[in-house]
Amino acid sequence: MNYCGGFLSPRECTKRSLFLVFTISFTAIYLIFYLYAPHHLAALFKSDNLHKESEKNLLKKNLTNFKQISGKENGELPPENEKSGNKATPTPTQSFTFIINEEEKCKDKTPFLVLLISTTAAELQHRRAIRESWGSEAAVPGVDIVRLFMLGIENKGANKDVLLRESNQYHDIIQQDFLDTYNNLTLKTLMGMRWVASYCSGARFAMKTDSDVFVNTMYLIEKLLRPLPPSTQNYFTGHLMKGHTPIRNKASKWYISEEEFPGKKYHPFCSGTGYVFSGDLAAKIVNASLTIKYIHLEDVYIGFCLNAKGVEIVPLSYSLFNIHKVPFSPCMYNKIITSHHIQPHEHILYWEILQEKKHTC
Ligand SMILES: *[C@@H]1O[C@H](CO)[C@@H](O)[C@H](O)[C@H]1NC(C)=O
Ligand SMILES: *[C@@H]1O[C@H](CO)[C@@H](O)[C@H](O)[C@H]1NC(C)=O
Ligand SMILES: *[C@@H]1O[C@H](CO)[C@@H](O)[C@H](O)[C@H]1NC(C)=O
Repeated sequence: MNYCGGFLSPRECTKRSLFLVFTISFTAIYLIFYLYAPHHLAALFKSDNLHKESEKNLLKKNLTNFKQISGKENGELPPENEKSGNKATPTPTQSFTFIINEEEKCKDKTPFLVLLISTTAAELQHRRAIRESWGSEAAVPGVDIVRLFMLGIENKGANKDVLLRESNQYHDIIQQDFLDTYNNLTLKTLMGMRWVASYCSGARFAMKTDSDVFVNTMYLIEKLLRPLPPSTQNYFTGHLMKGHTPIRNKASKWYISEEEFPGKKYHPFCSGTGYVFSGDLAAKIVNASLTIKYIHLEDVYIGFCLNAKGVEIVPLSYSLFNIHKVPFSPCMYNKIITSHHIQPHEHILYWEILQEKKHTC
């Protein structure tokens, strides 16, 4: 019996049967795949993709975490500040108020130079000598100079009335209510910066110096500052200190603890014995101080502020701003700007001889 009937040979029938079996089987398998396989495969494919996707997300998250930890995005270097280790913590300089102020000094004039001289109440003789010599507001004919002595407050109130009397007589004292100590010298400098920014913002230049520094204001103004263009901004110069590192020896005058400054190096700065800057920088330095952590080394701190504002210190010959005492001779002092460790009587003596002899050098 065969289902092909009698009109095909048995051999032919077997061939036909096999063909039918193959065709039906193929169709069936195809149908099964068509009905189930695509969804299954798609699902498989999808879950595989999901797996990959979630891995990607995880990696992304981990990368973000890494970026946040290391502070690096797009290979960017951390801000210069962080490299030096002083994080942005506000300086406690905003809360101090003026006890003695000279708000009117620049009301009717725009000084060419504001002298900000760091001093303590006891240094009466220094102030007197400076007023009569290089710090006289008439020291350089035809140039408006404003002189201010900067003070904090002292625990013993005995000097209070003396200081007020001195202030009433000379109108060249500013004082804020921070304790006048070595570790607060940065507050003193910032007080001066704040004064210039608030009451004399048009000043062309300002100089911060100390009462034991002789300043040849004549040379400073005539030779250095007057030749600069009237539009000079972001100008800062003095005795450049570059590549300095924190001193951890407690016996040093410049000792600084790891706690106060954990960084490994300082940014370039100018010795606090005397630095000169364009008037616009006063506000910029005050502004920077709002975000730069306080350290007591006044000059180093100003260096941090300059760095934060992207200001580069102008290098000058080291023979101009001297951080040691230059032995006096009129022709020597005629071509320097600062000399350190000066006694009150020397301020007067050197200035007088300089006036007499300057034309003979
Ligand atoms: C992500 O970081 C964690 C630990 O922080 C680690 O266990 C995990 O394997 C990381 N994942 C990827 C995808 O790198
Ligand atoms: C600095 O001044 C403030 C405010 O008067 C005072 O509290 C602080 O003790 C002073 N710092 C030092 C080191 O004298
Ligand atoms: C002070 O600094 C902030 C940023 O720290 C800036 O937005 C602001 O404009 C600055 N102001 C001045 C007067 O420079």
